[in-house]
Amino acid sequence: MYVFISFISQKGGTGKTTLALHVAAAMAQTGLKTLLIDADPQASAMAWHACRMQHEQPSLNRLTIMAISNGTITSQIPELAKAYDCVVIDGPPRGDRIARDVILASDMVLVPTRLSGFDVWAGDSITKIIEELRPVQEMANKRPLDWYYVINQKNPRTTAGRIILKALERVEGHLLDSHVCERAAFIESTSQGLTIFETEAKGSKGSLEVSRLVDEILERMHKREQRRAA
Ligand SMILES: Nc1ncnc2c1ncn2[C@@H]1O[C@H](COP(=O)(O)OP(=O)(O)O)[C@@H](O)[C@H]1O
Ligand SMILES: [Mg+2]
Repeated sequence: MYVFISFISQKGGTGKTTLALHVAAAMAQTGLKTLLIDADPQASAMAWHACRMQHEQPSLNRLTIMAISNGTITSQIPELAKAYDCVVIDGPPRGDRIARDVILASDMVLVPTRLSGFDVWAGDSITKIIEELRPVQEMANKRPLDWYYVINQKNPRTTAGRIILKALERVEGHLLDSHVCERAAFIESTSQGLTIFETEAKGSKGSLEVSRLVDEILERMHKREQRRAA
């Protein structure tokens, strides 16, 4: 199975880069030959990678990282599909031309959302764009385009958070069951060009959250392929 996942939001700071590089690293750990594409003009994933190289961190097995600067990602799908099992795209923080190209390349778009009204409203406008592009993508790629909100930086203690969570749960079929909590370990690891898998003990809460997220993504992809084959 070949999986093309992207992280997109209408807004910066929701956790696209943090989740994209952790999901890519975890996909690679499961044995999938993985490519992480930095499609954000701010190039945070590339900066993370440069920081990694500066400190001579060991390379992540089976993970390649690159920015796409010329051409579109959609035009490179056939080539990428041949070379990798999994492509993860860290998208831009707005619904611009690049975001549309990223959406059109995806099997699954993930919209990271914190439990704050501002993020949820911004998420709403990007999901309208995804819905608009969905038939175009499905016609062009002959593959379904799924999208889900993924809750990041969850802090269940706030009342507002609980109310917003209830509202998201009502968007039927578009909220992943797994979520990622607010944890200093994510900031500490990424600031050193590392992942939580390298700085935290095996089985730490944060790494389990990322692993569960990856399991859910793969499970949903498998189920969908089975449905299509039936
Ligand atoms: N689960 C998390 N827990 C704690 N901090 C997080 C988490 N996810 C992201 N962050 C922090 O929030 C900020 C924004 O995250 P980032 O991944 O850069 O978002 P985006 O790529 O959407 O702009 C960064 O400082 C990052 O370290
Ligand atoms: Mg980013």
